[in-house]
Amino acid sequence: MDVQRGQWSSRMGFIFAAAGSAVGLGNIWKFPYITGENGGGVFVLIYLVCIIAVGIPIMVAELLLGQGSKQSPVGAFEHFHKKGSSWGLVGWLGVASGFVILSYYSVVAGWAMHYVKLSLQGFTNLDTETIGNTFSGLYGSATQNMFWHTVFMSVTIMVVIGGVKKGIEKTCNILMPLLFLLLLFLVGRAVFLPNDGFMKAVDFIFMPHFEKLTPHGILEALGHAFFTLSLGMGAMLTYGSYLKSRKEVLKSSIAVSLLDTVIALLACLMIFPVIFAFGYEAEAGPGLVFKTIPIVFSQIAGGQILSVFFFLLLTFAALSSAISLLEVVTATFIDKLDWRRNKAALISGIVIFVFGIPSALSGSGKIFGAWADIFGKNFFDSMDYLASNWMLPIGGLLTAIYVGWVMPKEKLEYFFGAEFYPAWIFKVFYLLIRFFSPVLVLIVLLYKIDFI
Ligand code: TRP
Repeated sequence: MDVQRGQWSSRMGFIFAAAGSAVGLGNIWKFPYITGENGGGVFVLIYLVCIIAVGIPIMVAELLLGQGSKQSPVGAFEHFHKKGSSWGLVGWLGVASGFVILSYYSVVAGWAMHYVKLSLQGFTNLDTETIGNTFSGLYGSATQNMFWHTVFMSVTIMVVIGGVKKGIEKTCNILMPLLFLLLLFLVGRAVFLPNDGFMKAVDFIFMPHFEKLTPHGILEALGHAFFTLSLGMGAMLTYGSYLKSRKEVLKSSIAVSLLDTVIALLACLMIFPVIFAFGYEAEAGPGLVFKTIPIVFSQIAGGQILSVFFFLLLTFAALSSAISLLEVVTATFIDKLDWRRNKAALISGIVIFVFGIPSALSGSGKIFGAWADIFGKNFFDSMDYLASNWMLPIGGLLTAIYVGWVMPKEKLEYFFGAEFYPAWIFKVFYLLIRFFSPVLVLIVLLYKIDFI
């Protein structure tokens, strides 16, 4: 069996792939706009607490389940309990989350690709209002959304068909360094923006104003910690299953979480200076990077090339994440149904594509137009809400309970071998995964159903 299963070719290869999964639209599109909506500094602080106290322990839990079982989520949850155990259902919940997330993720990735094209054509000759309206135009266009949704899903499917080493690892090895360079370049450029834009941004992001703290902000920070680290649905678990050595589990979890956080903060340092330098609103919501950024780039020297870079960056980040979402579903079909990789990736990719069509058409109000009247959110927003606020936290909670309470302690300790880590590290982890992480997630979930 091991011969057939993929494996990363090196530690670096794995780090790039896992960081590629973690760093995505969540970091560059979503984190800045929810930070803006929730008042900046204090939200960032809560988010950092969530990453350390909940994110890292659950990332360790997922990677060790994968590494220890060498299986995709369903098999992994059965592995440390018993075959056919109902814990396998947690794995299936993860597969379902993969479907839901990728279906709308691809739509946003499609917007990024459309903006690469628009930037290449140049925004420079257009007036501010026209550029601002471009996003509404795209959002409302069924044809354009469908076109880019198709392109993006096709590329994602092709990478996953390529396999663990030749598809995923190779792609991430190219995309991740490129992404980092582009980001550093754009942050560097932001430092020199007029009107003290950069310093205002630093202040906004790092100065906590506690009066801006809301219960909603706390919930969103926790949900986002899951989303941004790709936790709660077995994506990290699946990547962990291609990992050679148990020694990598803890180190890699910390490295990947750190990279992801640094990149999210850098993304804010790239976007907010632009917003503040030109007097735009930080609370612009999902349109923040698509409306405001192009307007500003159209006004500064060299803006066109910056704009091309920016949306390329967004596209790369989205692609390396999307392949991890598709890989979970694909790996499960390979392991559980004995399908060949081509077949598994193609069929699951097509089903996800079809499921994404209502999201792609959400802005245009075509089919499922009545959805918003019934549920109060359009289909696209409903899927994001369902996944980030419910499916991932529930998946993460069950993962923590499984690793902290169901899995035998000796099996867990094995990943923290005395050969490579001092004993206190395991003790801290054990405390976090048994009590702290699950209790925190539970409180948040109970709060959401108005129980407390
Ligand atoms: N982490 C990615 C982002 O920040 C999205 C993502 C990829 C994801 N794989 C995932 C989210 C698995 C949850 C679960 O954009």
